[in-house]
Amino acid sequence: MSNIVKELKADLTLRSLQDILKPAEIASLRRGPAPSPAEQKARQKLEVVLKVSQMLSDPKAADSLPEQIVAILPQIVPVERTVLVLVDETGELSARKAWVAPGIDAEAGVFSRQIVRHAMDNGVAVLSMDAADDSRFDAAGSIQAQHIRASMCAPLRGRQGMLGALVADNVSRTEMFGEDDLRLLAGFANQAAIALENAALARSIAQQAKQREAELTRLVDERTASLRDEKERAEAARAEADNLRLVAEAATREAEEASRSKSRFLANMSHELRTPMNAIIGYTDLLLEEAADEGNDSQVRDLRKIGGAAKHLLALINDILDISKIEAGKMTLTVDDFDLAIQIGQIQDTLRPLVAQKDNRLEVSAPDSLPMRADETRVRQVLYNLLSNACKFTEKGLIRLAVRHEPEPGGAGTVVVDVADSGIGMTPEQLGRLFQAFVQADDSTSRRFGGTGLGLAISRHFCRMMGGDVTATSDPGRGSVFTVRLPAVVTLPASTT
Ligand SMILES: Nc1ncnc2c1ncn2[C@@H]1O[C@H](COP(=O)(O)OP(=O)(O)OP(=O)(O)O)[C@@H](O)[C@H]1O
Ligand SMILES: [Mg+2]
Repeated sequence: MSNIVKELKADLTLRSLQDILKPAEIASLRRGPAPSPAEQKARQKLEVVLKVSQMLSDPKAADSLPEQIVAILPQIVPVERTVLVLVDETGELSARKAWVAPGIDAEAGVFSRQIVRHAMDNGVAVLSMDAADDSRFDAAGSIQAQHIRASMCAPLRGRQGMLGALVADNVSRTEMFGEDDLRLLAGFANQAAIALENAALARSIAQQAKQREAELTRLVDERTASLRDEKERAEAARAEADNLRLVAEAATREAEEASRSKSRFLANMSHELRTPMNAIIGYTDLLLEEAADEGNDSQVRDLRKIGGAAKHLLALINDILDISKIEAGKMTLTVDDFDLAIQIGQIQDTLRPLVAQKDNRLEVSAPDSLPMRADETRVRQVLYNLLSNACKFTEKGLIRLAVRHEPEPGGAGTVVVDVADSGIGMTPEQLGRLFQAFVQADDSTSRRFGGTGLGLAISRHFCRMMGGDVTATSDPGRGSVFTVRLPAVVTLPASTT
Protein backbone atom coordinates (compact mmCIF):
# COMPACT_ATOMS: atom_id res chain seq x y z
CA MET A 1 0.00 0.00 0.00
CA SER A 2 3.04 2.26 0.07
CA ASN A 3 2.20 3.67 -3.31
CA ILE A 4 -1.17 4.77 -2.24
CA VAL A 5 -0.69 8.29 -1.26
CA LYS A 6 -4.15 9.05 -0.22
CA GLU A 7 -7.50 7.44 0.34
CA LEU A 8 -10.47 9.71 0.85
CA LYS A 9 -13.89 8.93 2.18
CA ALA A 10 -15.96 9.22 -0.94
CA ASP A 11 -19.19 10.50 0.54
CA LEU A 12 -18.29 13.95 -0.67
CA THR A 13 -20.96 15.65 -2.72
CA LEU A 14 -21.07 18.92 -4.55
CA ARG A 15 -23.78 20.15 -2.24
CA SER A 16 -21.74 22.94 -0.70
CA LEU A 17 -18.72 24.98 -1.52
CA GLN A 18 -16.84 23.35 1.35
CA ASP A 19 -17.01 20.11 -0.56
CA ILE A 20 -15.07 21.57 -3.45
CA LEU A 21 -13.10 24.53 -2.17
CA LYS A 22 -10.63 24.77 0.63
CA PRO A 23 -11.41 27.29 3.44
CA ALA A 24 -8.70 29.60 2.13
CA GLU A 25 -10.28 29.57 -1.30
CA ILE A 26 -13.73 30.36 0.09
CA ALA A 27 -12.24 33.16 2.20
CA SER A 28 -10.56 34.58 -0.87
CA LEU A 29 -13.93 34.60 -2.69
CA ARG A 30 -15.48 36.59 0.13
CA ARG A 31 -12.66 39.03 0.46
CA GLY A 32 -13.50 41.64 -2.14
CA PRO A 33 -12.91 43.07 -5.53
CA ALA A 34 -9.18 42.59 -6.25
CA PRO A 35 -8.90 38.93 -7.09
CA SER A 36 -5.67 37.25 -6.10
CA PRO A 37 -4.37 34.31 -8.17
CA ALA A 38 -5.85 31.98 -5.54
CA GLU A 39 -9.15 33.76 -5.86
CA GLN A 40 -9.11 33.49 -9.60
CA LYS A 41 -8.39 29.77 -9.39
CA ALA A 42 -11.22 29.33 -6.90
CA ARG A 43 -13.65 31.24 -9.12
CA GLN A 44 -12.65 29.17 -12.14
CA LYS A 45 -13.13 25.96 -10.16
CA LEU A 46 -16.51 27.16 -8.94
CA GLU A 47 -17.64 27.96 -12.48
CA VAL A 48 -16.59 24.50 -13.64
CA VAL A 49 -18.37 22.86 -10.74
CA LEU A 50 -21.61 24.78 -11.47
CA LYS A 51 -21.34 23.91 -15.14
CA VAL A 52 -20.85 20.23 -14.27
CA SER A 53 -23.79 20.29 -11.93
CA GLN A 54 -26.02 21.83 -14.61
CA MET A 55 -24.90 19.48 -17.32
CA LEU A 56 -25.39 16.35 -15.27
CA SER A 57 -28.82 17.33 -14.04
CA ASP A 58 -30.11 18.32 -17.49
CA PRO A 59 -32.79 15.70 -18.38
CA LYS A 60 -32.00 16.13 -22.07
CA ALA A 61 -28.48 14.86 -21.40
CA ALA A 62 -29.76 11.62 -19.80
CA ASP A 63 -29.13 9.47 -22.88
CA SER A 64 -25.60 10.69 -23.46
CA LEU A 65 -24.65 10.73 -19.78
CA PRO A 66 -21.70 8.26 -19.98
CA GLU A 67 -20.11 10.29 -22.81
CA GLN A 68 -20.68 13.50 -20.87
CA ILE A 69 -19.15 12.11 -17.68
CA VAL A 70 -15.92 10.97 -19.32
CA ALA A 71 -15.72 14.19 -21.32
CA ILE A 72 -16.39 16.59 -18.42
CA LEU A 73 -13.99 15.04 -15.96
CA PRO A 74 -10.84 16.29 -17.79
CA GLN A 75 -12.25 19.81 -17.47
CA ILE A 76 -12.21 19.50 -13.68
CA VAL A 77 -9.15 17.40 -13.06
CA PRO A 78 -5.98 17.43 -15.20
CA VAL A 79 -6.21 13.86 -16.59
CA GLU A 80 -5.21 12.26 -19.82
CA ARG A 81 -7.55 9.29 -19.69
CA THR A 82 -10.85 8.64 -17.97
CA VAL A 83 -12.83 5.41 -17.81
CA LEU A 84 -16.40 5.05 -16.63
CA VAL A 85 -16.65 1.54 -15.17
CA LEU A 86 -20.13 0.21 -14.53
CA VAL A 87 -21.48 -2.99 -12.98
CA ASP A 88 -23.43 -4.73 -15.75
CA GLU A 89 -26.58 -6.92 -15.44
CA THR A 90 -24.47 -9.99 -14.62
CA GLY A 91 -22.62 -8.16 -11.80
CA GLU A 92 -19.43 -7.91 -13.91
CA LEU A 93 -17.39 -4.70 -14.19
CA SER A 94 -17.11 -3.30 -17.69
CA ALA A 95 -15.78 -0.12 -19.21
CA ARG A 96 -18.94 1.67 -20.26
CA LYS A 97 -17.22 4.69 -21.73
CA ALA A 98 -13.68 6.00 -21.94
CA TRP A 99 -11.93 9.15 -23.04
CA VAL A 100 -8.29 9.59 -24.00
CA ALA A 101 -6.71 13.02 -24.45
CA PRO A 102 -5.64 13.78 -28.04
CA GLY A 103 -2.06 12.75 -28.77
CA ILE A 104 -1.89 10.33 -25.87
CA ASP A 105 -0.96 6.77 -26.75
CA ALA A 106 -3.12 4.73 -24.40
CA GLU A 107 -5.75 2.07 -24.72
CA ALA A 108 -9.19 3.54 -23.95
CA GLY A 109 -11.01 0.90 -21.88
CA VAL A 110 -8.24 -0.45 -19.66
CA PHE A 111 -8.73 -0.31 -15.89
CA SER A 112 -7.65 -2.27 -12.83
CA ARG A 113 -10.49 -4.41 -11.54
CA GLN A 114 -8.75 -4.77 -8.24
CA ILE A 115 -8.43 -1.04 -7.64
CA VAL A 116 -12.01 -0.45 -8.77
CA ARG A 117 -13.24 -3.26 -6.50
CA HIS A 118 -11.22 -1.81 -3.65
CA ALA A 119 -12.78 1.61 -4.12
CA MET A 120 -16.27 0.18 -4.46
CA ASP A 121 -16.02 -2.30 -1.58
CA ASN A 122 -14.57 0.23 0.86
CA GLY A 123 -16.38 3.28 -0.43
CA VAL A 124 -13.16 5.20 -0.78
CA ALA A 125 -11.55 7.27 -3.50
CA VAL A 126 -8.12 5.88 -4.28
CA LEU A 127 -5.06 7.76 -5.47
CA SER A 128 -2.06 5.81 -6.73
CA MET A 129 1.04 7.79 -7.55
CA ASP A 130 2.93 5.20 -9.46
CA ALA A 131 0.35 2.92 -10.92
CA ALA A 132 2.79 0.76 -12.82
CA ASP A 133 4.42 -0.28 -9.60
CA ASP A 134 1.26 -0.70 -7.65
CA SER A 135 0.86 -4.37 -6.85
CA ARG A 136 -2.97 -4.07 -6.90
CA PHE A 137 -3.06 -3.23 -10.62
CA ASP A 138 -3.97 -6.59 -12.04
CA ALA A 139 -3.64 -5.27 -15.57
CA ALA A 140 -0.17 -4.11 -14.67
CA GLY A 141 1.25 -5.35 -17.95
CA SER A 142 -0.89 -3.16 -20.08
CA ILE A 143 -0.67 -0.26 -17.64
CA GLN A 144 3.07 -0.49 -17.82
CA ALA A 145 2.85 -0.64 -21.57
CA GLN A 146 0.82 2.51 -21.49
CA HIS A 147 3.22 4.15 -19.08
CA ILE A 148 0.47 5.08 -16.71
CA ARG A 149 2.08 7.25 -14.11
CA ALA A 150 -0.67 8.17 -11.76
CA SER A 151 -4.16 6.82 -11.34
CA MET A 152 -7.24 7.87 -9.34
CA CYS A 153 -10.42 5.91 -8.82
CA ALA A 154 -13.66 7.08 -7.15
CA PRO A 155 -16.63 4.81 -6.51
CA LEU A 156 -20.02 5.63 -8.03
CA ARG A 157 -22.32 5.29 -5.02
CA GLY A 158 -25.98 4.83 -5.84
CA ARG A 159 -28.92 4.84 -3.42
CA GLN A 160 -29.26 1.08 -3.64
CA GLY A 161 -25.57 0.21 -3.89
CA MET A 162 -22.43 0.76 -5.90
CA LEU A 163 -22.95 1.45 -9.63
CA GLY A 164 -19.29 1.25 -10.56
CA ALA A 165 -16.38 3.66 -10.44
CA LEU A 166 -14.76 6.52 -12.26
CA VAL A 167 -11.10 6.08 -13.14
CA ALA A 168 -8.78 8.98 -14.04
CA ASP A 169 -5.21 8.36 -15.20
CA ASN A 170 -2.22 10.37 -16.14
CA VAL A 171 -0.11 8.59 -18.69
CA SER A 172 2.60 11.00 -19.77
CA ARG A 173 2.41 13.79 -17.27
CA THR A 174 5.02 13.88 -14.65
CA GLU A 175 3.08 16.06 -12.30
CA MET A 176 1.24 14.03 -9.73
CA PHE A 177 -2.39 14.18 -8.71
CA GLY A 178 -2.98 16.08 -5.51
CA GLU A 179 -5.48 15.66 -2.74
CA ASP A 180 -7.52 18.40 -4.36
CA ASP A 181 -7.83 16.36 -7.49
CA LEU A 182 -8.90 13.31 -5.55
CA ARG A 183 -11.47 15.39 -3.67
CA LEU A 184 -12.81 16.79 -6.94
CA LEU A 185 -12.93 13.36 -8.55
CA ALA A 186 -14.81 11.93 -5.54
CA GLY A 187 -17.30 14.81 -5.55
CA PHE A 188 -17.77 14.56 -9.30
CA ALA A 189 -18.23 10.77 -9.05
CA ASN A 190 -21.00 11.28 -6.49
CA GLN A 191 -22.76 13.75 -8.79
CA ALA A 192 -22.30 11.43 -11.73
CA ALA A 193 -23.75 8.49 -9.73
CA ILE A 194 -26.87 10.50 -8.86
CA ALA A 195 -27.24 11.61 -12.48
CA LEU A 196 -26.75 8.02 -13.74
CA GLU A 197 -29.32 6.70 -11.28
CA ASN A 198 -31.79 9.46 -12.15
CA ALA A 199 -31.31 8.79 -15.85
CA ALA A 200 -31.94 5.05 -15.30
CA LEU A 201 -35.02 5.84 -13.24
CA ALA A 202 -36.30 8.25 -15.90
CA ARG A 203 -35.68 5.60 -18.56
CA SER A 204 -37.59 2.95 -16.65
CA ILE A 205 -40.46 5.36 -15.92
CA ALA A 206 -40.55 6.34 -19.58
CA GLN A 207 -40.52 2.68 -20.58
CA GLN A 208 -43.32 1.84 -18.16
CA ALA A 209 -45.31 4.82 -19.39
CA LYS A 210 -44.71 3.66 -22.95
CA GLN A 211 -45.87 0.13 -22.08
CA ARG A 212 -48.92 1.49 -20.30
CA GLU A 213 -49.68 3.77 -23.22
CA ALA A 214 -49.33 0.84 -25.63
CA GLU A 215 -51.62 -1.27 -23.42
CA LEU A 216 -54.14 1.58 -23.22
CA THR A 217 -53.96 2.13 -26.97
CA ARG A 218 -54.54 -1.60 -27.47
CA LEU A 219 -57.55 -1.56 -25.10
CA VAL A 220 -58.97 1.56 -26.73
CA ASP A 221 -58.47 0.02 -30.19
CA GLU A 222 -60.15 -3.21 -29.09
CA ARG A 223 -63.09 -1.38 -27.53
CA THR A 224 -63.38 0.91 -30.57
CA ALA A 225 -63.37 -2.10 -32.88
CA SER A 226 -66.00 -3.93 -30.83
CA LEU A 227 -68.14 -0.78 -30.62
CA ARG A 228 -67.76 -0.34 -34.37
CA ASP A 229 -68.81 -3.97 -34.88
CA GLU A 230 -71.80 -3.52 -32.58
CA LYS A 231 -72.75 -0.31 -34.34
CA GLU A 232 -72.42 -1.94 -37.74
CA ARG A 233 -74.53 -4.90 -36.58
CA ALA A 234 -77.18 -2.56 -35.14
CA GLU A 235 -77.18 -0.50 -38.32
CA ALA A 236 -77.48 -3.63 -40.46
CA ALA A 237 -80.37 -4.89 -38.29
CA ARG A 238 -82.07 -1.51 -38.48
CA ALA A 239 -81.56 -1.35 -42.24
CA GLU A 240 -83.00 -4.85 -42.56
CA ALA A 241 -85.96 -3.94 -40.34
CA ASP A 242 -86.54 -0.79 -42.42
CA ASN A 243 -86.31 -2.85 -45.55
CA LEU A 244 -88.75 -5.43 -44.21
CA ARG A 245 -91.14 -2.70 -43.16
CA LEU A 246 -90.97 -1.16 -46.63
CA VAL A 247 -91.56 -4.57 -48.20
CA ALA A 248 -94.46 -5.23 -45.82
CA GLU A 249 -95.93 -1.80 -46.54
CA ALA A 250 -95.57 -2.36 -50.25
CA ALA A 251 -97.16 -5.82 -49.90
CA THR A 252 -100.04 -4.38 -47.86
CA ARG A 253 -100.56 -1.65 -50.44
CA GLU A 254 -100.45 -4.22 -53.21
CA ALA A 255 -102.87 -6.49 -51.35
CA GLU A 256 -105.23 -3.59 -50.71
CA GLU A 257 -105.04 -2.57 -54.33
CA ALA A 258 -105.57 -6.20 -55.43
CA SER A 259 -108.55 -6.48 -53.10
CA ARG A 260 -110.03 -3.27 -54.50
CA SER A 261 -109.42 -4.51 -58.05
CA LYS A 262 -111.03 -7.83 -57.12
CA SER A 263 -114.10 -6.11 -55.71
CA ARG A 264 -114.38 -3.91 -58.80
CA PHE A 265 -113.91 -6.98 -60.99
CA LEU A 266 -116.56 -8.90 -59.03
CA ALA A 267 -119.10 -6.11 -59.32
CA ASN A 268 -118.49 -5.96 -63.08
CA MET A 269 -118.48 -9.75 -63.51
CA SER A 270 -121.68 -10.06 -61.58
CA HIS A 271 -123.37 -7.81 -64.07
CA GLU A 272 -121.51 -8.87 -67.23
CA LEU A 273 -121.92 -12.64 -66.75
CA ARG A 274 -125.26 -12.94 -65.06
CA THR A 275 -127.16 -10.61 -67.38
CA PRO A 276 -126.45 -12.60 -70.58
CA MET A 277 -126.91 -15.91 -68.75
CA ASN A 278 -130.37 -14.81 -67.60
CA ALA A 279 -131.16 -13.68 -71.14
CA ILE A 280 -130.09 -17.10 -72.54
CA ILE A 281 -132.19 -18.90 -69.94
CA GLY A 282 -135.21 -16.61 -70.57
CA TYR A 283 -135.05 -16.97 -74.37
CA THR A 284 -134.51 -20.72 -74.15
CA ASP A 285 -137.65 -21.01 -72.00
CA LEU A 286 -139.59 -18.97 -74.58
CA LEU A 287 -138.32 -21.09 -77.48
CA LEU A 288 -139.02 -24.21 -75.45
CA GLU A 289 -142.64 -23.21 -74.98
CA GLU A 290 -143.01 -22.50 -78.72
CA ALA A 291 -141.40 -25.78 -79.72
CA ALA A 292 -143.63 -27.66 -77.28
CA ASP A 293 -146.69 -25.95 -78.71
CA GLU A 294 -145.57 -26.89 -82.24
CA GLY A 295 -144.95 -30.46 -81.08
CA ASN A 296 -141.34 -30.24 -82.29
CA ASP A 297 -139.94 -32.88 -79.94
CA SER A 298 -136.37 -32.89 -81.17
CA GLN A 299 -136.14 -29.09 -80.74
CA VAL A 300 -137.69 -29.44 -77.27
CA ARG A 301 -134.94 -31.95 -76.31
CA ASP A 302 -132.18 -29.70 -77.60
CA LEU A 303 -133.61 -26.59 -75.97
CA ARG A 304 -133.97 -28.41 -72.64
CA LYS A 305 -130.27 -29.30 -72.83
CA ILE A 306 -129.38 -25.69 -73.60
CA GLY A 307 -131.57 -24.44 -70.72
CA GLY A 308 -130.10 -27.00 -68.30
CA ALA A 309 -126.55 -26.13 -69.25
CA ALA A 310 -127.28 -22.40 -68.95
CA LYS A 311 -128.82 -22.82 -65.50
CA HIS A 312 -125.88 -24.93 -64.42
CA LEU A 313 -123.48 -22.29 -65.67
CA LEU A 314 -125.41 -19.52 -63.89
CA ALA A 315 -125.29 -21.51 -60.62
CA LEU A 316 -121.58 -21.95 -61.10
CA ILE A 317 -121.03 -18.27 -61.75
CA ASN A 318 -123.10 -17.43 -58.67
CA ASP A 319 -121.00 -19.81 -56.54
CA ILE A 320 -117.71 -18.38 -57.80
CA LEU A 321 -118.96 -14.85 -57.19
CA ASP A 322 -120.09 -15.84 -53.68
CA ILE A 323 -116.79 -17.43 -52.65
CA SER A 324 -114.84 -14.52 -54.13
CA LYS A 325 -116.94 -12.04 -52.21
CA ILE A 326 -116.59 -14.04 -49.00
CA GLU A 327 -112.80 -14.21 -49.38
CA ALA A 328 -112.58 -10.50 -50.14
CA GLY A 329 -114.61 -9.84 -46.97
CA LYS A 330 -117.26 -8.18 -49.12
CA MET A 331 -120.09 -10.64 -48.50
CA THR A 332 -122.98 -9.05 -46.64
CA LEU A 333 -126.08 -10.71 -45.17
CA THR A 334 -129.62 -9.46 -44.80
CA VAL A 335 -131.57 -10.64 -41.78
CA ASP A 336 -135.37 -11.06 -41.98
CA ASP A 337 -138.16 -12.88 -40.16
CA PHE A 338 -139.48 -15.95 -41.98
CA ASP A 339 -140.91 -19.41 -41.30
CA LEU A 340 -138.41 -22.16 -41.99
CA ALA A 341 -141.21 -24.75 -42.26
CA ILE A 342 -142.60 -22.91 -45.33
CA GLN A 343 -139.10 -22.71 -46.79
CA ILE A 344 -138.63 -26.46 -46.37
CA GLY A 345 -141.84 -27.06 -48.33
CA GLN A 346 -140.60 -24.90 -51.19
CA ILE A 347 -137.15 -26.57 -51.26
CA GLN A 348 -138.87 -29.96 -51.37
CA ASP A 349 -140.76 -28.91 -54.48
CA THR A 350 -137.63 -27.57 -56.19
CA LEU A 351 -135.67 -30.71 -55.39
CA ARG A 352 -138.24 -33.19 -56.65
CA PRO A 353 -136.67 -33.67 -60.13
CA LEU A 354 -133.16 -34.00 -58.58
CA VAL A 355 -134.36 -36.65 -56.12
CA ALA A 356 -136.05 -38.56 -58.90
CA GLN A 357 -133.02 -38.38 -61.17
CA LYS A 358 -131.19 -41.18 -59.30
CA ASP A 359 -134.22 -43.06 -58.07
CA ASN A 360 -133.90 -41.69 -54.52
CA ARG A 361 -136.55 -41.12 -51.90
CA LEU A 362 -136.82 -37.99 -49.78
CA GLU A 363 -138.22 -38.12 -46.24
CA VAL A 364 -138.85 -34.85 -44.45
CA SER A 365 -139.62 -34.41 -40.80
CA ALA A 366 -140.20 -30.82 -39.69
CA PRO A 367 -142.51 -28.95 -37.34
CA ASP A 368 -145.54 -27.26 -38.91
CA SER A 369 -144.07 -23.92 -38.16
CA LEU A 370 -140.54 -22.84 -37.26
CA PRO A 371 -140.12 -19.05 -37.10
CA MET A 372 -136.57 -17.82 -37.67
CA ARG A 373 -134.77 -14.54 -38.00
CA ALA A 374 -131.87 -14.95 -40.41
CA ASP A 375 -130.78 -14.38 -44.03
CA GLU A 376 -133.54 -16.35 -45.73
CA THR A 377 -131.84 -16.62 -49.13
CA ARG A 378 -128.57 -17.89 -47.64
CA VAL A 379 -130.33 -20.40 -45.37
CA ARG A 380 -132.14 -21.77 -48.44
CA GLN A 381 -128.85 -21.87 -50.35
CA VAL A 382 -127.17 -23.89 -47.56
CA LEU A 383 -130.01 -26.42 -47.35
CA TYR A 384 -130.21 -26.71 -51.14
CA ASN A 385 -126.42 -27.35 -51.35
CA LEU A 386 -126.58 -30.12 -48.76
CA LEU A 387 -129.66 -31.73 -50.27
CA SER A 388 -128.33 -31.53 -53.84
CA ASN A 389 -125.08 -33.18 -52.64
CA ALA A 390 -127.11 -35.93 -50.97
CA CYS A 391 -129.01 -36.48 -54.24
CA LYS A 392 -125.78 -36.37 -56.25
CA PHE A 393 -123.87 -38.93 -54.15
CA THR A 394 -126.76 -41.38 -53.52
CA GLU A 395 -128.40 -43.81 -55.90
CA LYS A 396 -131.63 -45.67 -55.24
CA GLY A 397 -131.34 -44.66 -51.65
CA LEU A 398 -132.97 -42.67 -48.93
CA ILE A 399 -132.41 -39.02 -48.21
CA ARG A 400 -133.74 -37.73 -44.92
CA LEU A 401 -134.24 -34.11 -44.01
CA ALA A 402 -134.93 -33.57 -40.33
CA VAL A 403 -135.57 -30.10 -38.93
CA ARG A 404 -135.99 -29.33 -35.23
CA HIS A 405 -135.80 -26.49 -32.77
CA GLU A 406 -133.61 -26.81 -29.69
CA PRO A 407 -134.97 -24.39 -27.12
CA GLU A 408 -132.62 -22.46 -24.86
CA PRO A 409 -133.68 -20.96 -21.57
CA GLY A 410 -133.75 -17.17 -21.84
CA GLY A 411 -132.86 -17.28 -25.55
CA ALA A 412 -134.36 -17.94 -28.97
CA GLY A 413 -132.73 -21.37 -29.16
CA THR A 414 -131.10 -23.16 -32.06
CA VAL A 415 -132.46 -24.51 -35.30
CA VAL A 416 -130.90 -27.87 -36.16
CA VAL A 417 -131.17 -29.39 -39.63
CA ASP A 418 -129.87 -32.89 -40.43
CA VAL A 419 -129.41 -33.96 -44.04
CA ALA A 420 -128.72 -37.69 -44.08
CA ASP A 421 -128.25 -39.96 -47.06
CA SER A 422 -127.52 -43.62 -47.72
CA GLY A 423 -125.04 -42.79 -50.49
CA ILE A 424 -121.36 -43.43 -51.15
CA GLY A 425 -120.16 -41.80 -47.91
CA MET A 426 -116.63 -40.53 -47.25
CA THR A 427 -113.44 -41.85 -45.66
CA PRO A 428 -112.11 -40.00 -42.57
CA GLU A 429 -109.35 -38.62 -44.80
CA GLN A 430 -111.92 -37.20 -47.23
CA LEU A 431 -113.92 -35.80 -44.30
CA GLY A 432 -110.81 -33.99 -43.12
CA ARG A 433 -110.57 -32.04 -46.38
CA LEU A 434 -114.27 -31.15 -46.45
CA PHE A 435 -115.45 -27.52 -46.47
CA GLN A 436 -112.35 -26.24 -48.28
CA ALA A 437 -113.05 -24.27 -51.46
CA PHE A 438 -112.47 -26.15 -54.73
CA VAL A 439 -111.76 -29.39 -52.83
CA GLN A 440 -113.63 -32.53 -53.77
CA ALA A 441 -113.41 -35.89 -52.04
CA ASP A 442 -111.19 -37.22 -54.81
CA ASP A 443 -110.22 -36.21 -58.31
CA SER A 444 -112.63 -38.66 -59.91
CA THR A 445 -115.60 -36.97 -58.17
CA SER A 446 -115.75 -34.02 -60.53
CA ARG A 447 -115.56 -36.40 -63.52
CA ARG A 448 -118.24 -38.71 -62.16
CA PHE A 449 -120.55 -36.25 -60.44
CA GLY A 450 -119.66 -32.81 -61.79
CA GLY A 451 -119.48 -29.73 -59.59
CA THR A 452 -116.60 -27.49 -58.60
CA GLY A 453 -116.18 -28.20 -54.89
CA LEU A 454 -117.53 -24.84 -53.76
CA GLY A 455 -120.96 -25.72 -52.30
CA LEU A 456 -119.79 -26.82 -48.84
CA ALA A 457 -117.19 -24.06 -48.45
CA ILE A 458 -119.81 -21.41 -49.21
CA SER A 459 -122.36 -23.13 -46.94
CA ARG A 460 -120.02 -23.20 -43.97
CA HIS A 461 -119.11 -19.54 -44.46
CA PHE A 462 -122.78 -18.55 -44.48
CA CYS A 463 -123.54 -20.62 -41.36
CA ARG A 464 -120.60 -19.14 -39.48
CA MET A 465 -121.46 -15.62 -40.55
CA MET A 466 -124.88 -16.19 -38.98
CA GLY A 467 -123.33 -17.47 -35.75
CA GLY A 468 -123.78 -21.18 -36.47
CA ASP A 469 -121.91 -23.96 -38.27
CA VAL A 470 -122.23 -27.00 -40.48
CA THR A 471 -120.52 -30.30 -39.63
CA ALA A 472 -120.44 -33.77 -41.17
CA THR A 473 -120.11 -37.41 -40.18
CA SER A 474 -119.84 -40.23 -42.66
CA ASP A 475 -119.43 -43.94 -43.15
CA PRO A 476 -117.79 -44.90 -46.44
CA GLY A 477 -120.25 -46.92 -48.56
CA ARG A 478 -123.12 -46.39 -46.11
CA GLY A 479 -123.90 -42.70 -46.22
CA SER A 480 -123.28 -39.32 -44.66
CA VAL A 481 -124.98 -36.94 -42.26
CA PHE A 482 -124.54 -33.18 -42.54
CA THR A 483 -125.77 -31.14 -39.58
CA VAL A 484 -126.51 -27.41 -39.71
CA ARG A 485 -126.91 -25.49 -36.46
CA LEU A 486 -128.08 -21.89 -36.61
CA PRO A 487 -129.33 -19.49 -33.96
CA ALA A 488 -133.13 -19.18 -34.36
CA VAL A 489 -132.59 -15.46 -34.13
CA VAL A 490 -129.46 -14.33 -35.90
CA THR A 491 -127.86 -11.06 -34.82
CA LEU A 492 -125.14 -9.85 -37.14
CA PRO A 493 -122.19 -7.68 -36.27
CA ALA A 494 -122.75 -4.20 -37.73
CA SER A 495 -120.13 -4.69 -40.46
CA THR A 496 -121.71 -7.82 -42.00
CA THR A 497 -125.24 -6.48 -42.43
N1 LIG B 1 -123.51 -36.32 -49.24
C1 LIG B 1 -122.26 -36.57 -49.64
N2 LIG B 1 -121.84 -37.86 -49.78
C2 LIG B 1 -120.58 -38.12 -50.19
N3 LIG B 1 -119.65 -37.18 -50.49
C3 LIG B 1 -120.03 -35.90 -50.39
C4 LIG B 1 -121.33 -35.52 -49.94
N4 LIG B 1 -121.38 -34.18 -49.89
C5 LIG B 1 -120.19 -33.75 -50.31
N5 LIG B 1 -119.36 -34.75 -50.60
C6 LIG B 1 -117.95 -34.67 -51.03
O1 LIG B 1 -117.49 -33.39 -50.75
C7 LIG B 1 -117.05 -32.74 -51.94
C8 LIG B 1 -117.32 -31.28 -51.85
O2 LIG B 1 -118.69 -30.99 -51.92
P1 LIG B 1 -119.18 -29.61 -52.45
O3 LIG B 1 -120.64 -29.49 -52.33
O4 LIG B 1 -118.39 -28.57 -51.78
O5 LIG B 1 -118.70 -29.64 -53.94
P2 LIG B 1 -119.32 -30.37 -55.17
O6 LIG B 1 -120.66 -30.85 -54.79
O7 LIG B 1 -118.35 -31.35 -55.66
O8 LIG B 1 -119.43 -29.18 -56.20
P3 LIG B 1 -120.45 -27.95 -56.14
O9 LIG B 1 -121.23 -28.10 -54.87
O10 LIG B 1 -119.55 -26.78 -56.12
O11 LIG B 1 -121.26 -28.09 -57.33
C9 LIG B 1 -117.80 -33.44 -53.03
O12 LIG B 1 -117.14 -33.34 -54.27
C10 LIG B 1 -117.85 -34.86 -52.53
O13 LIG B 1 -116.66 -35.52 -52.82
MG1 LIG C 1 -122.23 -29.59 -53.90
